[in-house]
Amino acid sequence: MNESTHLPPPLAPIRTHIEAGYPILYVLSWEEQRVETHLSLLAAALDPVRLFFTWTTTDGLSHGAQSTGTAQGDPLAALDFVLDYDAPAVFVLKDFHPFLSQRVDIVRRLRDCYQSLRQTQKTLIILAPKLVMPPELEKEITVLDYPLPDQGEIEEIVVAELKSFRPAATIETDRLRRDAIFRAFLGLTSDEVADIVRKIALRRDAMDVEALEDIIEEKRLLLRKSEILEFIPSPVHMKNVGGLANFKRWAEIRALGFTREARAFGLPVPKGVLITGISGCGKSLLIQALANLWHQPLLRLDMGRVFGGFAGTPEESLRRAILTVEAVAPAVLWIDEIEMGVSVFSDSIESGATSRIFASFLTWMQEKKAPVFIAATANDIDRLPPEFIRKGRFDEVFFVDLPRQQEREDIFRIHLETRGKAASQVSLEGLAKSADGYTGAEIEQAIITAMFEAFNLKRELEIADIYRAMGAMVPLSVTMKEQITKTKRWADNRAVRAS
Ligand SMILES: Nc1ncnc2c1ncn2[C@@H]1O[C@H](COP(=O)(O)OP(=O)(O)OP(=O)(O)O)[C@@H](O)[C@H]1O
Ligand SMILES: [Mg+2]
Repeated sequence: MNESTHLPPPLAPIRTHIEAGYPILYVLSWEEQRVETHLSLLAAALDPVRLFFTWTTTDGLSHGAQSTGTAQGDPLAALDFVLDYDAPAVFVLKDFHPFLSQRVDIVRRLRDCYQSLRQTQKTLIILAPKLVMPPELEKEITVLDYPLPDQGEIEEIVVAELKSFRPAATIETDRLRRDAIFRAFLGLTSDEVADIVRKIALRRDAMDVEALEDIIEEKRLLLRKSEILEFIPSPVHMKNVGGLANFKRWAEIRALGFTREARAFGLPVPKGVLITGISGCGKSLLIQALANLWHQPLLRLDMGRVFGGFAGTPEESLRRAILTVEAVAPAVLWIDEIEMGVSVFSDSIESGATSRIFASFLTWMQEKKAPVFIAATANDIDRLPPEFIRKGRFDEVFFVDLPRQQEREDIFRIHLETRGKAASQVSLEGLAKSADGYTGAEIEQAIITAMFEAFNLKRELEIADIYRAMGAMVPLSVTMKEQITKTKRWADNRAVRAS
């Protein structure tokens, strides 16, 4: 067999481009070391074998572990070396991206390289954590994302790291549990995987199913650092959601869309849902219950932060978020208050740049191959651009209205039961009747207020306490009457009722 079967899978598109004679590739990754190692494997596996060079500004050109001393601190000299070199080779340029925006001569020389390398078996690879692309080079350079480690690579990293750091430690042997452990590392860089393995090996003798929680916790901490993606544990069950039967039925039917049988039947993979509606009526709740019903991890993307530049440029943070979610797919990507991301760009001075980011996000949504299901919520539908809700973008657009009588009974029952309280059907009906115009969140709040009153008086909760609490409250449907009427009118033509 040829060696290519052992090459890390992310190399496949790079290999294809090299073999097809593309002279300049731009590989995007934060993982310089990992990608460089992989690329050196690829160079050796190609036919004919390519010599492997790297360039950094401090060491100049190196071959193997050896610095040639050529082109130290001189990117132009590095390109000249490439142009003159006379054998099949791969040249990996690190630290190169800053020059692309600063030096016309470098841009010029790269265009020369493009012409001259086309007829050769020499390939230039710019390896960088961010994309800097002068417009003059857009046609010459092919940009490729380098995916995060998949489960197979993660297994190799974990095994190797344990072996060198703590040889006596054992790894779970049961195949299913072992898979669950490696899967838990998905979405992280190889360095992050290794860091977590060492951290856990300090506390534990075995990388077994009991370590799983530690792994997930560490991962949550790491992703929190990125500040735009957050793992949400989703203990919310559909039966904890009152009413909204239409949505629940839809969710159950679409769950089948992830099966192999659905593919064979000719159905597409579910791509996304947009839930609009009145604040406090269960939008966020529905999404958590959806991920739970589908047994998929739930990741929340903070649009406000993406566009607010809290975690690097919006391009970088969005790209990193997308790669992370794709690595953990199948997964549900929750974009709460998506209109914030949209409207920030329309008001901003830099609206040109940000709307481009948003457009590229829409394109990703349309073309993504990984089974990432987008679950978006929006309160302020006025701020959603029409292209966002046009048919075909989402599988369905739902509208969550104020709960009706039957639904309010459900909500009262659910919130009383989760707090260990019971009420007769008659009481529930009565409560629901006088809660006309209250949101689910307000019903829950009334119950809590009532329970505090009872607790303060050192007695059990009485139904009258709840009536009193409701009476003291002015519901949103009164204070925001106009806004709600407007939202409903909007939804009549554009959305399906969730209940
Ligand atoms: N249909 C419902 N069934 C049970 N509880 C509900 C329901 N609707 C709302 N609640 C309660 O109200 C809380 C707030 O609801 P949720 O966060 O889902 O509202 P939302 O529509 O996302 O509001 P916002 O637009 O303000 O984000 C929930 O945590 C839940 O306790
Ligand atoms: Mg919400």
